[in-house]
Amino acid sequence: MAELKQQAKTQGNLEHYWMPFSANRQFKQTPRLLASAEGMYYRDVDGRQVLDGTAGLWCCNAGHGRAEISKAVSRQIREMDYAPSFQMGHPLAFELAERLSEIAPPGMNRIFFTNSGSESVDTALKLALCYHRANGEPSRSRFIGRELGYHGVGFGGISVGGIGNNRKGFSPQLLGGVDHLPHTLDMEANAFSRGLPEHGADKAEALEGLIALHGAENIAAVIVEPMSGSAGVILPPKGYLKRLREITQKYGILLIFDEVITGFGRVGGAFASNHWDVTPDIMTTAKALNNGAIPMGAVFVQQAIHDACMQGPEAMIEFFHGYTYSGHPVAAAAALATLDIYRDEKLFERTTTLAPYFEQALHSLKGLPNVIDIRNTGLVGGIQLAPSPQGVGKRGYQIFERCFWQGALVRATADIIALSPPLIVEESQIDQLISTLADAIQTVD
Ligand SMILES: Cc1ncc(COP(=O)(O)O)c(C=O)c1O
Repeated sequence: MAELKQQAKTQGNLEHYWMPFSANRQFKQTPRLLASAEGMYYRDVDGRQVLDGTAGLWCCNAGHGRAEISKAVSRQIREMDYAPSFQMGHPLAFELAERLSEIAPPGMNRIFFTNSGSESVDTALKLALCYHRANGEPSRSRFIGRELGYHGVGFGGISVGGIGNNRKGFSPQLLGGVDHLPHTLDMEANAFSRGLPEHGADKAEALEGLIALHGAENIAAVIVEPMSGSAGVILPPKGYLKRLREITQKYGILLIFDEVITGFGRVGGAFASNHWDVTPDIMTTAKALNNGAIPMGAVFVQQAIHDACMQGPEAMIEFFHGYTYSGHPVAAAAALATLDIYRDEKLFERTTTLAPYFEQALHSLKGLPNVIDIRNTGLVGGIQLAPSPQGVGKRGYQIFERCFWQGALVRATADIIALSPPLIVEESQIDQLISTLADAIQTVD
């Protein structure tokens, strides 16, 4: 193993690239460099096969190296590499918006394109303000996020987000007028639940308290992930999302679901909103929209919200917001090819079919040293470990590293290991993933 790490280290100068969300100095001592990918597997620069237990970074739901996507991309880049997005258009962006509206939750048939999840979140927050202003309620400007929520890294996203480390260093400049609901992780009541936990729907009632405190007339929107992915697979208790919907509806507050991770089949159904039958007003997506092939995000909006914003003289821009690369033709071509794969291979249904096998395999880890909780839904799993006496996150990192060198990519958030394999995963590959993880859990301190 040391030999392999040494080989990877000598393949060029790694100093100049400042890596995102990475321990740069530690990484560069023993780099993990991926070079190619096909189906369920990566290969690293030394040719070692690594089973993808995380769909890249929750992106590659159709698996890797899909010829349909690369053909669509190369065809499009030859035909037209770029088209301006302001006051100009090209047919693929319109076609993609229509295709997305066909799989969207009810009524969410207006689509705004971005380049990432973070941009989708900022767009959604601005849309909420735009809507209330257009609707004659400009005082509705406060946002409510949730503890442990992750909504990307824009100033809007970290302000409504609830992960301490992502906020602390920037705290003097976070958005004002933001509150947070309590998170829904309750290991005392729900540890080792299978699927959505029984206890905790009442955590949604905290919203009533914030409304009493600030007045509904001052609140623009509530934003939550239907399932928190980045904070370590934190599931909504049964009935929780419905309750949030009821309360927001009652007070005219918009409900934004951040489906950057849950979108495109991860929990079953096209979106968590469809799967759990709770329809928000605005929904943010990115990642698996085009299988991670080209940066792209999309914000889904209820038609009534869109229509309310279509005000003023016709020659006037209605929403002063957008990106140079909104609806980029090459990204759109990749997304259309990806949607075809999802449909033709019935991958969203495959999540539901495979979920019981995945659940069973995942819960076989119960009883291994330091495993204090296992959580799952669809093709997402979280294994929570007790922190090592040497510090929070050490054990999680060691397990992640050991799995990688043993040929499986998992994700560690502090001491929680998250699994989210591509939806094309086979049962034998689930077995391989779980046995590599079991070995790592038993091997590290
Ligand atoms: C729920 C959620 N929202 C937003 C983001 C940010 O997406 P991006 O990294 O594409 O900006 C992520 C990324 O993991 C996410 O999980």
